[in-house]
Amino acid sequence: MTADSREKLARLIIDLDTRPDGQRYLWIPGGLAATNDHAGSFQAEATLSRFDLEREPFYTLILRNVNERLEAEQKIRSLTVETEYLREEISSLVGADEIIGGSEALRKVLADVKEVAVTDATVLILGETGTGKELIAHAIHRSSRRRDRPLIKVNCATMPATLIESELFGHEQGAFTGATKRREGRFALAHGGTIFLDEVGELPLDLQSKLLRVLQEGEFEPVGSSQTRKVDVRVLAATNRDIESAARAGKFREDLYYRLNVFPIQVPPLRERRGDVGPLAAAFAKKFAQRLGRSIEPLSDDCVRRLEAYRWPGNVRELQNIVERAVITSRDGRLNLDRALPESVNAVAAAVVSDSSTVQRVLTAKELEELERNNIIAALKSTEWKVAGENGAAQLLGVKPTTLSSRMKALGIERKR
Ligand SMILES: Nc1ncnc2c1ncn2[C@@H]1O[C@H](COP(=O)(O)OP(=O)(O)O)[C@@H](O)[C@H]1O
Ligand SMILES: [Mg+2]
Repeated sequence: MTADSREKLARLIIDLDTRPDGQRYLWIPGGLAATNDHAGSFQAEATLSRFDLEREPFYTLILRNVNERLEAEQKIRSLTVETEYLREEISSLVGADEIIGGSEALRKVLADVKEVAVTDATVLILGETGTGKELIAHAIHRSSRRRDRPLIKVNCATMPATLIESELFGHEQGAFTGATKRREGRFALAHGGTIFLDEVGELPLDLQSKLLRVLQEGEFEPVGSSQTRKVDVRVLAATNRDIESAARAGKFREDLYYRLNVFPIQVPPLRERRGDVGPLAAAFAKKFAQRLGRSIEPLSDDCVRRLEAYRWPGNVRELQNIVERAVITSRDGRLNLDRALPESVNAVAAAVVSDSSTVQRVLTAKELEELERNNIIAALKSTEWKVAGENGAAQLLGVKPTTLSSRMKALGIERKR
């Protein structure tokens, strides 16, 4: 037994001696180093007990070799990393990450992805929730030279602020209460690969400086350690918040914002690329029908029109959910949008359709606004976004061009780029 371990035992024996009869045994969960003839040196856990024989104290020490257990734990840790690889492989195999849609706006995003993927640049992916930011991050990693290395994700919004630092950078044993073992952080796990910091706008200010340092020097210290670690990690970050304004207001570190913003990719909301709605809905319908073992007819024009008319505040994620619901409630292979779409949309659709109906349902102000919005967009689409003049949308709608412009502004209608 090593000198260290002997000392430890001596201390424990004193502890035992002071205990009352019947409690003179203890469990030593590890931290003992021992040697024997066949195993060489090994890490041991032990039970130590005292008994008295003719008033003389005797001690029994039972040692158990824990090398095997430690090796198994090591294996599990590296397996966890491999699982990340594996998940990557599986998702690319089944095409779960396929990006669907052919709109001009999406094509522009994909061109950016292709351009930046081959560099090692930090990418900031901006866009409303559900627009596909995470999908874009995966696409960048998959087309990069790091594709065979892990892509490690961290969601800065769902992780408790007190844990983020150790999750990102790891910790030493005993660094804080509950840190019973040394643990690698996600930056270390992502070494050679990519880290995806989702919802980076939620990262607490004090951690922002630590992140800036990794970005600039590739260096950090695990929690409770004074040893600097170096890593080679590409950083992708995403947020649905306007961190530029947050930076100006002092709520997000300005230097970090500039460092992240080297190559921003703006993913447009679904309502600004309505052309993607049909292909996405069709792909989702096929996917869910397959999963449920049902057959679904191709989407009707009417169905696509109704989906295109909706504002999609939850973007592609919402579309996916609604199509899933429509497949579940489908009858005779036809999607059931009446049940799947939010009620206000159906009310608007119904109001448009049933102009001959005698009992007109009263619309709420919001529904009316939605109706006006869709009507203006329809007019603008048919004039290819010509507002004023002969055959302009204003003429079509029977209003002055200035009136139309101010309504467009009020309703947030903009031409898609
Ligand atoms: N263009 C797209 N093609 C196929 N699926 C998409 C597309 N955009 C988003 N999705 C799907 O919509 C859901 C939300 O996308 P996600 O990347 O998580 O959005 P975000 O990170 O912006 O909130 C995911 O299930 C994703 O696979
Ligand atoms: Mg997301």
